[in-house]
Amino acid sequence: MVFTLGLFMGFSGTVASANPNEMFSVETKDVGYYFTVNARGQVLQQYFGKKVASLKDFSYMKDYGYDRIRLQDRDLYSTFGTGNVALPALQVKHADGNLTTQLVFSGVEKKQISTDLIQTTIQLKDNFYPFYVDVVFMAHQSSNVIENFVRIRHQEQGPVVVSKAASVNLSMTAERYFLTHYYGEWSQEMTEMEEELQLGVKTVESHKGVRTSTSEHPTFFLSVNAPATETEGEVVLGSLAWSGNYKLQFQYDAVNRVYVQAGMNDFMSDYLLPANETFTTPAFIYTYSDQGKGKASRNFHKWARSFGYRKGNEVRPVVLNSWEGAYFNFDEATILNMIDDAAAMGVEMFVLDDGWFGNKYPRDNDRQGLGDWAINKKKLPNGLKPFADRCKQKGIRFGIWVEPEMINPKSELAEKHPEWIMRSPNRKDLFLRNQLDLDLSNPKVQDFCFDVVDKTLTETPGISYVKWDANRHVENFGSAYLPAQQQSELWMKYVQGLNKVYERLQAKYPDVIFQACASGGGRSDLGTMKYHHEFWASDNTDAESRVKINWGFSSIYPANAIASHVSHVPNHQTKRVIPIKFRFDVAMAERMGLELQPRKLDSLETAWMHLAVPEFKKIRETVQLGELYRLLSPYKSATAAKMYVTENRSKAVLFAYQLEHPSRGKLSFVKLQGLDPAKQYRLMEILPKEQDQTKWKNSASGKVSKFACRANGEILSGAYLMHVGLTLELKYQYDSFVLALEEVK
Ligand code: DGJ
Repeated sequence: MVFTLGLFMGFSGTVASANPNEMFSVETKDVGYYFTVNARGQVLQQYFGKKVASLKDFSYMKDYGYDRIRLQDRDLYSTFGTGNVALPALQVKHADGNLTTQLVFSGVEKKQISTDLIQTTIQLKDNFYPFYVDVVFMAHQSSNVIENFVRIRHQEQGPVVVSKAASVNLSMTAERYFLTHYYGEWSQEMTEMEEELQLGVKTVESHKGVRTSTSEHPTFFLSVNAPATETEGEVVLGSLAWSGNYKLQFQYDAVNRVYVQAGMNDFMSDYLLPANETFTTPAFIYTYSDQGKGKASRNFHKWARSFGYRKGNEVRPVVLNSWEGAYFNFDEATILNMIDDAAAMGVEMFVLDDGWFGNKYPRDNDRQGLGDWAINKKKLPNGLKPFADRCKQKGIRFGIWVEPEMINPKSELAEKHPEWIMRSPNRKDLFLRNQLDLDLSNPKVQDFCFDVVDKTLTETPGISYVKWDANRHVENFGSAYLPAQQQSELWMKYVQGLNKVYERLQAKYPDVIFQACASGGGRSDLGTMKYHHEFWASDNTDAESRVKINWGFSSIYPANAIASHVSHVPNHQTKRVIPIKFRFDVAMAERMGLELQPRKLDSLETAWMHLAVPEFKKIRETVQLGELYRLLSPYKSATAAKMYVTENRSKAVLFAYQLEHPSRGKLSFVKLQGLDPAKQYRLMEILPKEQDQTKWKNSASGKVSKFACRANGEILSGAYLMHVGLTLELKYQYDSFVLALEEVK
């Protein structure tokens, strides 16, 4: 029997079938994934890519793919013991010790979850053991995004050891493959790199346990045949929704197939699965585009706003976060002054960062007090209430920093609950930032973490933002809670425990904004973001660095998820001195905020704050809710440019940054994208190029003296802007401009 998607449109029940020689598909508006079942019951992937008109075209292929070549047979979910000598997606030890598994088709079930979402479950079973695998696809029609995960259960006579269970085993065939992935480090998160895959296996992974996206990010573009550009080429964009250890493997074989296996890392992760319990993998999220990377990212953004992170369809407040402005050195007056200054500049949310807690071991530096979440009475004798009150009085909101999962050994918590700390038996503790991890596999520790936030929020009413930090990865591996034979489950149980905490907080505080932070962008994966509204992209607040870091994150996240703050110069991380206009122009392209002490700004900077924050609010909705078009990459050009366009194409904002001094007389040039060719747009530069306002002359008519873009003030057609383009008047390093476009009727 052949199923086509059309059969299920508008269908609200489920259909299951166990007939052999099946064919079925998982389809979205433009993307299709097609499967056949051969005579042996093996489910084979026939094709993934642009949707094809008819599933029946695959029927002649049904019996191909087995026995011809003893490589991997495009199995939907490959195992060991079927002749497959390539990487298996699943590795288990059955209760009787058998290491082989042979999965055959047992049924397919389709469910229309909503008008836009269809769930397909392909049911597999071992052909001898009572061992079952469901491969589940959630196909989001309009965004063309598929979520793929796997459920495993059994009824064997004892636990089955799950050693590896990938979330996906996606196969494609092409001549060549080009992988774009994101390496990084603290302060260099999401550094884009592209390489051609060679025969063999390319692995991108983390086994840091916590803060897993500090180095490699579980996100990639895979272009087929030729490297995709922003507008052209076939490309798959994928990301794993898991905040623990992960592994992405790209296996390119001698017959030109590639297998993408993505999932929890199998590194020291054996899991004892008791009978009748279900092991569920995290979801792997992916899309396909035949119009380059830009379209793939826009697909992802559309999906992510509703399913990837919280309240993705809302604009975010302008934040002032206290960290780089005050570090640990503040008292009540310092913070009250910051709140007053922030409110006067148009900031909408003040966030008090680290340093507000600890009494026996006051958190006046990073060597002590972490874990002791009582307000520091000496520093803040009146608690946090004066801050919440002052924010309310000034008409802004108040937020707080926490780091519940971690502990300084010099803390009351460490004295009281040494057994809550992750430690390797008979080994010396290894410290990072003088701290250790708590063991989140322990339900008592989960309760503690929940209480940290719950108590803070109930003791001081009026807190509406939580910055959740995590400043080390796991090195002292070991749980005093888990039994000896289940130590390897700690990786997974830590993440599950943490997710339980997030879920409880989300249920109790649905209106509080949660920011994910882990020494910057160390926890910016889709597993974390499911429970957060935004993430702190990097501790590196240098605007030049941020052009690249934010560019990388834009592969999967819309602007309102990426927190980007204007900070002091010389920059605290890079010591670079970058003009205030450039610093603002960079931060305005995402979730803009400030990371500074207003009283340490010079008069020019202060004036700029008062000018730029209100200007940003005028373009914020287009930036944060608009569709992104990346125009000139900072990885490939001395000028970077990108733009956001509203869905109805009536408004847009163009950002352009000069990253290096251009060679003499050479100005960059950009063709805009995403506009309506038939519409007329008025071009308005947002902030003047000259930072010193005393030098502005002729501001009403002075296009030349005041603004950087020659076309400022013009009314031009979408066709002109997209086909002829604009010359960018960026003559020196750190010249930049922000140009708003608005339809003129
Ligand atoms: C690391 C974060 O990334 C910073 O923004 C800041 O919150 C510090 N931790 C505080 O300890």
